Amino acid sequence: MNILIVGTGYVGTTTGLLFCEMGHQVTGLDLDDSKIQGLKAGKLHFYEPGLEELLIKHVAAKNFMFTKNTKKAVRENDVIFICVGTPQDADGSADLSYVKNVAESIGKYINNYKVIVTKSTVPVGTATLVTEWVKKKQKGQIPFDVVSNPEFLREGSALQDALNPDRIVIGTTSETARTIMKELYNDFHCPIIVTNPKASEMIKYAANSFLAMKISYINELAKMCDYLEININDVSMGIGLDQRIGPQFLRAGMGYGGSCFPKDVNALIQTAKENGQPLTILESVVKVNEAQPVYFIEKIKQALGGDLTNKTIAVLGLSFKANTDDTRESPSLILIDRLVAEQAQVKAHDPKVKMAEGALVQLQTVEETVTGADAVILCTDWDDYKNLDWVSLKSLVTQPYLFDGRNMLDKGAVEGLGFHYVGIANH
Ligand code: UDX
Repeated sequence: MNILIVGTGYVGTTTGLLFCEMGHQVTGLDLDDSKIQGLKAGKLHFYEPGLEELLIKHVAAKNFMFTKNTKKAVRENDVIFICVGTPQDADGSADLSYVKNVAESIGKYINNYKVIVTKSTVPVGTATLVTEWVKKKQKGQIPFDVVSNPEFLREGSALQDALNPDRIVIGTTSETARTIMKELYNDFHCPIIVTNPKASEMIKYAANSFLAMKISYINELAKMCDYLEININDVSMGIGLDQRIGPQFLRAGMGYGGSCFPKDVNALIQTAKENGQPLTILESVVKVNEAQPVYFIEKIKQALGGDLTNKTIAVLGLSFKANTDDTRESPSLILIDRLVAEQAQVKAHDPKVKMAEGALVQLQTVEETVTGADAVILCTDWDDYKNLDWVSLKSLVTQPYLFDGRNMLDKGAVEGLGFHYVGIANH
């Protein structure tokens, strides 16, 4: 099948590569010339393990082509995946202007039957809107179907997630579109849920919000456990082994970040409000998440004598989680902002993130970063930070305070080296 991917960002590029792997001919369309030029040359504009190798392979084999020519791309492909961004509006709802632009272009250039698929996370009712937008721009009466087919991949493990999904969700009421979509996912062995577009759109938001809820639940519990001197990791394990609960997304930390959870939880809250059906649980999930970095910084402040003025603080990790260079809604940056507001001198390190010149004092090595520090804060769960040589790092710091925002370290071991250790209820 000839597949068009509109939007060559994170989701679009991964989805495109997935279909190349399945033996399809894929075209990536983007209006951003620098992205197109880079991708044509086999270069990714973001970091994701394993993806660039695959890109190089499929670009060389001419399975994955890239273009800026919308008219030609729409006309030459039968299945069109909309993978453009749906950023957050001021009120928390999803901004659909990019999706609308794509739908209108499809309407303008449509020449034969197309299956138009929304892969981007879009609010309930968007499939209906896309249908209207395409129809409005159409000159003739060429048939098409709009399908919702949400993506569940995670940054950092995008390829593995896309290749081995837990389920595939297809939202359509059209027999023709359903047959084409099922054929497209023929090689996958996971369950395929076919439902209507509205339910499919809801599934994506409901899944992300549920996972965010698990995180906020464990984080709020962690505060209480901290007060009671209970180890939250043991609690997570103890409840996670109950199959009805499951062990994942129960790691207490500095709160969830990234391009999806904060945005999607807010968008679902907004949809709920607009429909007069407020989701109070999710409103609390957001509140707990916002409070988490504040709670951690208070603990840091307390340990350092109540004042951070002119204290040198080494922050390890800038990305919102390991294995990505994405800093969107990163708890680490939220923490740094607060440290700076408290007049602390911040030095930062990350294995992949390169902040803009002047935004932050960023150093190349962990050793340089911790040199002269009054406190070291572990903010991102990079593997690189799990096995650091704390004996030699201790000789570089001014004061041996170690704050572990991800509960990554063995408390007993680092305390044995003479560090004053504070984790998230890591007792
Ligand atoms: C998420 C969803 O998992 C994915 O299905 C969806 O398609 C996009 O959004 P992603 O944002 O890439 O993926 O990251 P994820 O691994 O889900 O982590 C989100 C945030 O939660 C990170 O900040 C992470 O550090 C945090 N987290 C995760 C915890 O604090 N504790 C946990 O136990 C798990």
